Amino acid sequence: MQGRKILLIVTGGIAGYKSAFLVRLLKTHGADVRVVMTKAATEFVKPLTFETLSGYPVSHDLFSRRGEAGAEHVKLAVWADRVVVAPATADFLAKAGLGIADDLASAVLAAARCTVLFSPSMNEGMWENPAVQRNVGMLRKDGHVFIEPDVGELACGAVGPGRLAEPEVIAEVLEASFEAGDLEGVRFLVTAGRTEESIDPVRYVSNRSSGRMGFAIAAEAKRRGAHVTLVHGPVDVAPPEVDSVKRADSAARMKSAVERAFQRCDVLVMAAAVADYAPVRTVRAKIKRAKAGNLTIEFRPTTDILASLKGKKGKGQIVVGFALETSDETENALGKVGEKGCDYLVLNTVGKRTGFSAPTNQITLFKGKRRLLSTPIITKEEAASLIIDTIASDKRLRRVKR
Ligand code: CTP
Repeated sequence: MQGRKILLIVTGGIAGYKSAFLVRLLKTHGADVRVVMTKAATEFVKPLTFETLSGYPVSHDLFSRRGEAGAEHVKLAVWADRVVVAPATADFLAKAGLGIADDLASAVLAAARCTVLFSPSMNEGMWENPAVQRNVGMLRKDGHVFIEPDVGELACGAVGPGRLAEPEVIAEVLEASFEAGDLEGVRFLVTAGRTEESIDPVRYVSNRSSGRMGFAIAAEAKRRGAHVTLVHGPVDVAPPEVDSVKRADSAARMKSAVERAFQRCDVLVMAAAVADYAPVRTVRAKIKRAKAGNLTIEFRPTTDILASLKGKKGKGQIVVGFALETSDETENALGKVGEKGCDYLVLNTVGKRTGFSAPTNQITLFKGKRRLLSTPIITKEEAASLIIDTIASDKRLRRVKR
């Protein structure tokens, strides 16, 4: 933990005294520790205790340093490599889950981009309360880490889950969090599979995408520590275990799902084979076979999801597009880089053992218009690893990576 910057948020619970031990422990491990308290926490332990142990001033007031340059909560959030909330009360979990930022502790949390660990402590009835568990679930979904409370005798005399984890355990979890993969702190949004555009209640138009490439990318990003949201259409294989999996069967549904998640991701990998056309009308009843003649279905273009995000892209966000070409590969692929505003483009070569439904692939990776690499036929997992290696080394992720 040598030189690691840990911001400890102490909220108002009786276990606050254990947080004083935690500060000592982290300091003996070489960490630089700063403490922010909630007003309620100061009822249990005096700020002076934490000031003396940490060597830094301790505040709970969002406006205590009025007149100084820069907002205190933002400075602290930028400073921290990790934020630990110990003890985390039911009240603070509720605020954190909703993003309420009305005091220094909650505002720091709202501004933090690093990994946040919560170590809850409360009466067992409160811990098991559905509202508390709902907030915990919501925070976990957002990528935050929870250190389960211990089971034992509680301050109120009851016995059950709710005791603050021992400072040694919190320190161990913190230490382990620094050993995680190289994408820790990075939020990926990955799309995979095909879309199906309904003609009538029983028929649709689609393509042969199996979902394997997108799934391999999502799994690799997760393995290396990223927080991964996967949006996928119909597929031939089971999705990997990632943080959030959403199903979107049509181009329109995938567009909505991607738009909802885009603002909160650092990297979008658009590996889904989204249909370019959908029937102008979906007929309500099954189309009957005509006695004679051909059937004509009119198609309209779907929205190009990637291209539609071009103007919405934040400064540090990375967008990766895919291209599947059967002729003039490089020329067509490079055209898509500009049209769709991609930072990287993965060109899939279609062949007997490559492309949509095959387990192997042959790719060329472009950064902007520059060709970075071309591979022979490799597995989709190997291709995913190469793609993720390239993204992981992108300077834009330094701001979020830990
Ligand atoms: N894509 C998208 N929305 C669509 C169609 C495609 O976001 N409605 C994305 C794909 O996920 C992929 C990239 O655009 O990352 C390239 O898709 P591709 O089908 O190769 O290109 P198109 O723009 O559809 O062009 P064409 O089919 O004419 O080659």
